[in-house]
Amino acid sequence: MPQIAAPKGTRDILPDEFAARRWLLDAHAAVAESFGYRGIETPIIESTELFSRGVGTDTDIVEKQMFTFEDRGGRSLTLRPEGTAGTLRAVLGAHLDQELRPVRLHYAGPFFRAERPQAGRQHQFTQVGIECIGEGSPALDAEIIEVAWRFFKALGIDGIHLQVNSLGSPEDRARYRTALVAYYTPLEASLCDDCRRRLHTNPLRLLDCKRDAGLVAAAPILWESLDRPSRDHFTTVLRDLESAGIDAIRNDRLVRGLDYYGHTVFEFWHDILQGAQSSLGGGGRYDGLAELLGFPSTPATGYALGVERILMVARAVGTVPSDPAATDVLVCSVEPGQAEAAAGVARLLRDAGMHSILDVAERRLDRKLRGASRAGARVAVIVGENEVGSDSAVVRDLDGRSQQTVPIAELASTVIRILARDSVAETAIGEDS
Ligand code: HAM
Repeated sequence: MPQIAAPKGTRDILPDEFAARRWLLDAHAAVAESFGYRGIETPIIESTELFSRGVGTDTDIVEKQMFTFEDRGGRSLTLRPEGTAGTLRAVLGAHLDQELRPVRLHYAGPFFRAERPQAGRQHQFTQVGIECIGEGSPALDAEIIEVAWRFFKALGIDGIHLQVNSLGSPEDRARYRTALVAYYTPLEASLCDDCRRRLHTNPLRLLDCKRDAGLVAAAPILWESLDRPSRDHFTTVLRDLESAGIDAIRNDRLVRGLDYYGHTVFEFWHDILQGAQSSLGGGGRYDGLAELLGFPSTPATGYALGVERILMVARAVGTVPSDPAATDVLVCSVEPGQAEAAAGVARLLRDAGMHSILDVAERRLDRKLRGASRAGARVAVIVGENEVGSDSAVVRDLDGRSQQTVPIAELASTVIRILARDSVAETAIGEDS
């Protein structure tokens, strides 16, 4: 029978990657919490309407990328393609914004988009994100960017290009749309198929076209359509970013692929990721989304970052730490008769904080020791007949290849000493290189 494979566009997170992801997810939660953001988790399935109304029917996500199905009661459900609409629905539904404004939240989890899979683009991917709900101040747009900036620093990732733009108010955008349509209409015949459609459905998305890049370069500029208050909002964001020591690159063509944005929008790019997948993440202000979802008007701002893409960069620049969950010690019996004593020794080492695996199989000792190194253990503790009789154990340094017999009372401290020496040596090597 043919072997069953993982579905197209999905990947298993094997143990090496699991550890790296945990490092990244913990760092994001820690940085967000240092700014007062609290954790939230929302369902992975949502009603399809949440996204058609929230993200917009003319966006690529809603038009082509959603995994949508009917439940047994005939209701249309969708695997969430993004987290902002669901988070806002949860917060406003539970009236959290009536207790304290703004509501500051962080999240992490799986998201789903049916895009053609390639490096950095999957059907199932992971985002970390934050949403700051209930206040319209430009200071909060700068604050969320600072959270992401600190997060990248915490991971040791330099070379982030922060792209920022302002989409202004709905009235500004209506003015800009008119200017864009006036510019593109005489050129309609020369546009690619996608752009010809966008001209009538969602003209702002014309700026995303890679094929008609020459036309995009000469198109009207959004800033020209912004009124005074919109310009002031954006200027304040830029000022706050500067005083936080964050370099922002103004990008007049940045419009983002979701319809709910207004005023500040931004993306984080990195040179290691080339082409269409160069964005590690992005976000912006979405003051109009609450009303689209049927709630009272509520200003909000937020971002989401792609975990798999960030890990690609962290791996390439070599900042992923070694697995903190790795095994320290293998405890083994020489013969099955010492299994119980060996289990007791492993327990004692775990109580002292060491990651200890137990091998009491009926197997030759040299095989067990080879297995210890393969499992990443740096020390083996061997319990044979003599040791059981004398309340002791043999401690073998698997790197130094030396061994000693120590009383059980001194076992934990002896093993800790060897492990500490190894980790000092590792740090020294790391610092040299
Ligand atoms: P987004 O730009 O659609 O924004 O997605 C954010 C990030 O998720 C992308 O920059 C990318 O790193 C990652 N991502 C998106 N699609 C895929 C995929 N198919 N495979 C791998 N990674 C992917 C949002 O989702 C908004 N909800 C952000 C936001 C939050 N705006 C306000 N608050």
